[in-house]
Amino acid sequence: MKVLHTVKEVVEWRTKEIGDRRKISVGFVPTMGCLHQGHATLIKTSKQENDFTVVSIFVNPSQFAPTEDLDQYPRTLPEDIKLLESLGVDMLFAPTAKVMYPQGIPLDVTVQRGPFVSVLGVSEMLEGTTRPNFFRGVATVVTKLLNIVLPDIAYFGQKDIQQFTVLQVMVNELFMNTKLKMMPIVRGENGLALSSRNKYLSQESLEIATNIYKGLNEAKLQIESLNNDGGEIKSRDELVQLVLNKWKPFIDLNDFKVDYISIANWGTLTEVTEVKAPKDGFQYIISCAVYVTDRVDKSRKVRLIDNIVL
Ligand code: PAJ
Repeated sequence: MKVLHTVKEVVEWRTKEIGDRRKISVGFVPTMGCLHQGHATLIKTSKQENDFTVVSIFVNPSQFAPTEDLDQYPRTLPEDIKLLESLGVDMLFAPTAKVMYPQGIPLDVTVQRGPFVSVLGVSEMLEGTTRPNFFRGVATVVTKLLNIVLPDIAYFGQKDIQQFTVLQVMVNELFMNTKLKMMPIVRGENGLALSSRNKYLSQESLEIATNIYKGLNEAKLQIESLNNDGGEIKSRDELVQLVLNKWKPFIDLNDFKVDYISIANWGTLTEVTEVKAPKDGFQYIISCAVYVTDRVDKSRKVRLIDNIVL
């Protein structure tokens, strides 16, 4: 596996390996490292579907707020490289912040310089409410990465479903020449969605965090139990209450602080007030963000997100 660090190196690699051979396809998996089986699934799919697979590891400063965990974000490059090699990845792009942001990237957004990509509307709800500059950072860095790697297909996880929605709008409306694919959430045996941020939690709190998924599942089961004739409906508030009931013991003990629970339309992410039995493909997304306070180190508050698509 080639490990490259500058844009020039990548352009040279692409010219040498691919040149203008149009039949050769490049699959791309952008990541922030600390790789787990969720990332590995994206990579394996890319390997199956493309001639070349490129992965990037870059902890992107512009998607972190000053109060967030940029400095603590787990960095495990040597282990990541071993995993990527075992998966047969052709090239890893691991740039520095200076390469990606030649004018520098101060965390204070009011003094930032250079081009940024904003996808208005779909960036401003759910995750965007709590993290106002997050999707601007994601859209900007993914634009830069796509422009460098020029992949045919880029792979993303359903775990960050709003990220995928934002990027799909960006690629469509900026007429970018890459197809985006979304892969299902990879979970641990107990249902907890795999995440690099799970590393921040003790075993005890990881066990408690499995209730995030169990709560969302309560709403899913109710929606699935609706009659398929379209006559039966459930109100959003009733479904949200079901999730909250499941979480109540953990909210009461200060394990969980709920940021949001959303029941929204697939594609637009607009909130619904009532749901019918879903038919003909995806219709609803039940999603949430929960701050989990670690039981061993109570100063650790980890924001976890999860969702179920129906
Ligand atoms: P990161 O959190 O490292 O995730 C990289 C990709 O892996 C994303 O598309 C994410 O949705 C996917 N992923 C993470 N956990 C997953 C799981 N349990 N199952 C399936 N897929 C999972 O998302 C980012 O990095 C960044 O925002 C990035 C797109 C790289 C831009 O900086």
